[in-house]
Amino acid sequence: MALSLREAVDCAADRLKRADVETPKRDASLLLAHVLTSETSILYREPERQLTETEQEAFDALIERRARREPVSHLTGHREFWSLDFLVGSDVLDPRADSETLIEAVLSEVQEGFEVSRILDLGTGSGCLLLSLLSELPEATGVGVDVSEKALAIARRNAERLGLAQRAEFRHGRWHDGLEECFDIVISNPPYIPASDIKELQTEVREYEPHLALIGGEDGLDCYREIIAGLNAILRPGGLIVFEVGVGQALMIGEMLQKAGFIRAKYHKDLSGTSRCVSAFQGK
Ligand SMILES: C[S@@+](CC[C@H](N)C(=O)[O-])C[C@H]1O[C@@H](n2cnc3c(N)ncnc32)[C@H](O)[C@@H]1O
Repeated sequence: MALSLREAVDCAADRLKRADVETPKRDASLLLAHVLTSETSILYREPERQLTETEQEAFDALIERRARREPVSHLTGHREFWSLDFLVGSDVLDPRADSETLIEAVLSEVQEGFEVSRILDLGTGSGCLLLSLLSELPEATGVGVDVSEKALAIARRNAERLGLAQRAEFRHGRWHDGLEECFDIVISNPPYIPASDIKELQTEVREYEPHLALIGGEDGLDCYREIIAGLNAILRPGGLIVFEVGVGQALMIGEMLQKAGFIRAKYHKDLSGTSRCVSAFQGK
């Protein structure tokens, strides 16, 4: 017998709960809305509407994958970041709400008079940071670099879909290697999880997100060391660096920047009160 939308969500939420999924009802609702190519509000507007056999089969298949802890965003192929819709998948880090702290940090400097026309995003992944900034700064252009060609392919598609491809260029490479230009701002959310912590991550992250996007060497700081070593050569005098950092890493990164000659380090908190970003200006 065909299930109503309400019954289908309840039944799927039970299945996800048994699989230890953290937010079973929310995930079941999002996946059902995805199958119906609708917003989740349809579940409140038409709770008694019956699922067709095809819809039920498609929903069951997604719920089974979610029960194996595949992230919702990989199942729908989309993630909202900075109120923009990004394509995502197993080749890129799933954009995190915490990373919006970096966008806010840059925009607050711009509001205080810092002038930006060229932005460099090191480890661009889905392109979410660079593209969100370009959406806010209509005069700016930027370059996103990643060592993963597969990630770059997704970033380029995101730029096209958001109408930003004319202002965003995506290049394959290791951090700033081979870049000869000077930028006004460098932003980066590099991999920062210490290698030994990987086993403690949620299954969704450990099993389904690219480890290249997660692990930052033994102490989690390897990528910051590499990036900071070449920063002076690619930032214009007085230019701005903004890093996202892991929990407990902010002061260490601030010190590394100061040792490299950067000044006016600031620490920016995310919504949970964790120091999530460090910014500083080139000292020349
Ligand atoms: C933590 S993810 C950040 C992705 C995206 N910027 C975001 O905030 O969602 C780090 C990114 O750095 C890239 N990466 C890792 N090592 C790299 C390297 N040596 N050079 C360039 N990119 C690298 C990974 O492929 C991944 O896309």
